[in-house]
Amino acid sequence: MRLIVLIKALFFSALISSNMISCKPKSEIGLKDSMKGKFLVGTAMNTSQITGRDSIAINLIIKHFNSIVAENIMKSEVIQPVEGEFDFALSDQFVKFGQDNKMFIIGHTLVWHSQAPKWFFVDENGKDVSPEVLKERMKKHIQTVVSRYKGKVHGWDVVNEAIEDDGSWRKSKFYQILGEDFIRLAFVYAHEADPNAELYYNDYNMAVQKKRNAVVAMVNNLKAQGVKITGIGMQGHLLMDFPSVEEFEKSIVAFGATGAKVMITELDLSILPNPFSKASADISNTADYQEKMNPYKNGVPADKMIEWENRYLDFFKVFFRHSDKISRVTLWGLTDKDSWKNNFPIRGRTDYPLFFDRNYQPKPIVTKLLEMTNLN
Ligand code: G3I
Repeated sequence: MRLIVLIKALFFSALISSNMISCKPKSEIGLKDSMKGKFLVGTAMNTSQITGRDSIAINLIIKHFNSIVAENIMKSEVIQPVEGEFDFALSDQFVKFGQDNKMFIIGHTLVWHSQAPKWFFVDENGKDVSPEVLKERMKKHIQTVVSRYKGKVHGWDVVNEAIEDDGSWRKSKFYQILGEDFIRLAFVYAHEADPNAELYYNDYNMAVQKKRNAVVAMVNNLKAQGVKITGIGMQGHLLMDFPSVEEFEKSIVAFGATGAKVMITELDLSILPNPFSKASADISNTADYQEKMNPYKNGVPADKMIEWENRYLDFFKVFFRHSDKISRVTLWGLTDKDSWKNNFPIRGRTDYPLFFDRNYQPKPIVTKLLEMTNLN
């Protein structure tokens, strides 16, 4: 008799936990709950969130997201501003927040031409260092950072933005001194420091055909050499007219075919006019302020907002369709007020690229996405 009671109790508790989401009151369901079983939903955290100063943001992050990445504070110029002097004050807080909230933590980024400290590439006379010295510096940086967070940071953007839109190698200092082999070396060093961590290549404009082909070739080549590369991060810095959903989808399919996981990283959708012919996340591509390029500083007309929302939903439909390949979708920030897009590619504009407005209120896109996943 007791055994039957015990079995019944176990059966019902299993049933309750498997239906946990549907038991939650509607108002408590976050994006992460609604997309459970499809992919992780992430956000990038800024310094006031990481230090806990922005408590409203913190509560929203806990409710809606199960993965986090630091927008700036794990870049090499912040972590190792002076050779041999590592500053982990903020990154320790970031990782602890993720651990406390059982989140999938992403380290961004180990090797990136931008925001690398100047000393990294030069000797005491200001001349480029030798390949051997640069290898040593890369190894020390990568292994000090990755081993500090071994078993805590689950995935690393190991190499960021090494390929140009035309498919050629970016002529960064890493490339100039070490050639394309710097990419293989970075993955090897990271793997040595934490063999269980996921390791990613992350880049923007990944829907551009020549770039897509070059990334596929690079990933296949690394894999053929036995290098561990777990995933390909497609930065999603979208504009209203670029890229097309179709080209973006082709890249998801092509990247998935390499056997790597696909991640939509750095997702935001700018509503503002673009001064260039296509998007770029290269922070050296900027333009001067002009009033006509800042049309929505007092708000966005309703029809434009709907156009913006529909474009986001079109992308999410593609993400859901390919959720077998996509392991994570990460937004590049929480609220419009904190988005880098207000200052890029033109400083001082008012943009609306994210899911929460300047007063921390969820935009209708959040409800639409919850509806789309049948849980609202
Ligand atoms: O740290 C200083 C701070 O001391 C100073 O008060 C402030 C004044 O403007 O500037 C601060 O630094 C800025 C930093 O963001 C933190 O806000 C830098 O000037 C600014 O260039 C930096 O921009 C970041 C950019 O990367 C360059 O690192 C953006 O916030 C960040 O969103 C952006 O993110 C990159 C990804 O890492 C890689 N992919 C492209 C993406 C967009 O460029």
